[in-house]
Amino acid sequence: MVEVSSSILSVNRGEESKTFFALEKAKTDYFHIDVMDGKFVKRNTYTKMFEYASYIKRISNVPLDVHLMVENVENAIDEFSALEPNTITFHYEACKDKDEVIKFINMIKEYHCKVGISVKPETDVEKIYEFLPFIHNVLIMTVEPGKGGQTLLPDMLEKIKRLREYIDKEDLEIDIEVDGGINLKTAPEVKKAGANILVAGTAILMAKDYKVIIDELKG
Ligand code: DX5
Ligand code: ZN
Repeated sequence: MVEVSSSILSVNRGEESKTFFALEKAKTDYFHIDVMDGKFVKRNTYTKMFEYASYIKRISNVPLDVHLMVENVENAIDEFSALEPNTITFHYEACKDKDEVIKFINMIKEYHCKVGISVKPETDVEKIYEFLPFIHNVLIMTVEPGKGGQTLLPDMLEKIKRLREYIDKEDLEIDIEVDGGINLKTAPEVKKAGANILVAGTAILMAKDYKVIIDELKG
C-alpha cells in the first residue's frame, strides 16, 4: 500500500509544533527530515532539522524518515541515529566508491535503522542495483535536491518504472520512495510507475486540511 512521508523542510517559522501535531493527527506515515549541509546542496538545514526531529521524537511516535543531503555521510549517520529514525537515507553521489556505500549501509544497520539510498535525477538508477539486496528503500529524487516547491521532472517516471520492474524481477522487498514535486496531479503518475512511498512538503503544508490531502495522495 502507498504511504506518505511529510517533508517538514518548509514548515512556517513559529508554527512548527502546531504543524507537527496537525500532521500526526492527519496520520502522516512518516516525518521526512531533509538534512542539508550547505555543501552537498547549497542550503544548510542541518541544525534546524536536528532540532525539529528531536522535538518530534519527544512528542510523537510517528517514525522519522531521515534524508541526508550531506557530504560527510558518516558524521550525519552517527548524529541522526541518536534520534532512532525508522530510516536513514544517504546519497549515492556522496560516496567516493563502492566500499563506502557498503560501509554506510552497515553503519546504519548497526544503529538498527532501515537503509535508504537516494539518487539524483542525473544519476542512472542502475548504478545502485548491486546494493539493492542489502537495503530497504530507494529514494528517487524527482527534482534536483536542495529545496522544496519545485516541479517534478517527468523523465523520472521512466526511471521509477525501470526500478520497479527490476525489483519485481529480482523478487526484492524494497520500497520506492519519490521526493520532490509530489502533489495531487503527479501522485497518480508516480504510483502508476511503481512508487509506494510519496514524500510531499509543499503540497501538504499549503493544504487547508492535511488529512484530506494525505488521504488523496494515498488514494
Ligand atoms: C528537496 C527535498 C524534498 C522537499 C520536498 O531537496 O528532498 O523532500 O523538501 O519537496 P516538495 O516541497 O516539492 O514536496
Ligand atoms: Zn527529501
